Amino acid sequence: MRAAAKPLTVLGIETSCDETAASVVRGAPPGPGEILSNVVLGQASAHRPYGGVVPEIAARAHVELLDGVVAQALEEAQLTLAEVDAMAATAGPGLIGGVMVGLVSAKGLAVASGKPLIAVNHLEAHALSARLSEGLEFPFLLLLISGGHCQLMSAEAVGRYTLYGATIDDAVGEAFDKTAKLLGLPYPGGPQIEALASGAKPGRFNLPRPMIGREGADFSFSGLKTAVRQIVHASGPLGEADRAALAADFQAAVIDVLVDRVRAAMKIFRTSFGKTNDQCLVAAGGVAANRAIRGALQNTCRQEGFSLTLPPVALCTDNGAMVAWAGLEHLALGFSDPLDAAPRARWPLEA
Ligand code: KG4
Ligand code: ZN
Repeated sequence: MRAAAKPLTVLGIETSCDETAASVVRGAPPGPGEILSNVVLGQASAHRPYGGVVPEIAARAHVELLDGVVAQALEEAQLTLAEVDAMAATAGPGLIGGVMVGLVSAKGLAVASGKPLIAVNHLEAHALSARLSEGLEFPFLLLLISGGHCQLMSAEAVGRYTLYGATIDDAVGEAFDKTAKLLGLPYPGGPQIEALASGAKPGRFNLPRPMIGREGADFSFSGLKTAVRQIVHASGPLGEADRAALAADFQAAVIDVLVDRVRAAMKIFRTSFGKTNDQCLVAAGGVAANRAIRGALQNTCRQEGFSLTLPPVALCTDNGAMVAWAGLEHLALGFSDPLDAAPRARWPLEA
């Protein structure tokens, strides 16, 4: 039996998109960890008039909000900076202005406290969130579906991921948001579409299922959004029942694509790791909050002999706890980053 590692306590900061978030997490790999605080301030209302995230507005809002969010996270955890083992912040990928705000702030806290800095990859933070919530062992298959990302990969160890497929155009959350806009729904559109779709049965509109049956595990969603646009433009103003039917058909098409691509990735995973009894799929990212998608993934896993791990919704959407946990996993392996660590707008996990 493995000796229990000494628990570590890490402050995590997340500012790569439109959530200003900070959290204190305690624990040891493989988890689960204890979330001592998890403060998330959304900026949706600031971006709503524009129908999507405006990078400049997001960066300014992070500057205004972050100090207070960090102070609140420490206060709720009932800890001072001196009692935290490291400062972790998302260093990319994401909107560069926001990433800079969070990373520079963590650097300042690291200097002030004399504690190490961990520059966290946002995608890795999502990937490891199932270890924070469940203590999941490697390897596992990860479906990361959010507003900015749509990927399938195997997670083999901290820092070791193999990309099986990614979107060749829009991320799935982006498709939800753009479709919502076409249907006259406010940003962020994912939860709005889900609510609207729950009031109708799919089957009225014939929407495409891009990439189904294709070799590999890549995704494509822009054709689906375009098909919705053509229907909206061709039919003029849509009544409530029409919009619900279109939302239901859009969501059904997304689910068919996701399920097909997940099955393809499961095949690749089995080829790489053999067919074992403890194969696990993790679904993370904001879109994994969708109940219809969760249900479809559950069925797929049952049919394919995988277990499904869904981190709680609060850990699926952007948050500081997953960043703190990713930092904690690095720290436990003896890794930290220099104070001149650079923010990165693009930062593929495989590199
Ligand atoms: O992970 P996240 O909070 O931020 C990014 O890193 O992008 O994901 C936000 C995305 C948005 O596109 C939002 O519309 C989508 O997740 N989303 C949903 C649902 N809740 C959030 N999409 C579909 N159904 C939902 N219930
Ligand atoms: Zn995210």
